Amino acid sequence: MKGCFRINTIGEWCVHRYDRVGSTNDIARSLPPWHAVRADSQTSGRGRQGRLWVSDYGGLWLSMVVPVEGARHHWKALPLAAGWAILDVIKCLGIREARLRWPNDIMVNDRKLAGILVEQFHDNLVVVGVGINVFNRPDMINHSLTQKITRLSDHINPVPCLDELTVMILKNLENVHRQMKTDGFSALLNVINTAWSIPRRVALELDRETQEGLFLGIDNQGDLLIENDAGYQYAYSPHRVKLFREV
Ligand code: BTN
Repeated sequence: MKGCFRINTIGEWCVHRYDRVGSTNDIARSLPPWHAVRADSQTSGRGRQGRLWVSDYGGLWLSMVVPVEGARHHWKALPLAAGWAILDVIKCLGIREARLRWPNDIMVNDRKLAGILVEQFHDNLVVVGVGINVFNRPDMINHSLTQKITRLSDHINPVPCLDELTVMILKNLENVHRQMKTDGFSALLNVINTAWSIPRRVALELDRETQEGLFLGIDNQGDLLIENDAGYQYAYSPHRVKLFREV
């Protein structure tokens, strides 16, 4: 880790700034709620399902610690809500075609702009880690990402600076958290269900089988609704889905 050089207060948030870290989620895991960690680069950025996340200079790498007190099921859909909070920032910047890909990837057309890794290290606290490609070139570091990723600077000009983006994201996550706390997830269900481009044909890889069908959105439990080719609808709990592919 290369020195924590600044701590800022933004609304509820206390933001720790680093030049280079392994993973901002790992620094955030020992911080109290409403603390956030931002680094200019990560040497071991983590993606979902143990994937590496290329985190070169020029991207936004941010982890936020939020409280999740009370019943576990109340916060079950926080990863989906966090995805929507980030998508809303991207749309406010003018990228209208941005959408969610389940569970919380931010896509522009078929390229990935941002990803979210939600990890729980302690009871009552969750770390929401967000990576957004802004000016950076992950495809230069990992050539297999060519044609698969996109960056804010490919879509808008001027691009807000990383500090401004950070403020927008912190505010949105705080708002979404407040909404979930007071009204529960169902208050956000409709807006989230407009954020996928559905219906869309998908394949879900489950423990022992693959299910193909039309993705219709999520229900108020955060489960995925799939219509199979015979026209029957099924709900799948997110923890059963090993891989979600658009086909
Ligand atoms: C994914 O789409 O697979 C999730 C990517 C999450 C990347 C962010 S960058 C900030 C935070 N720190 C990490 O190590 N990962 C998340």
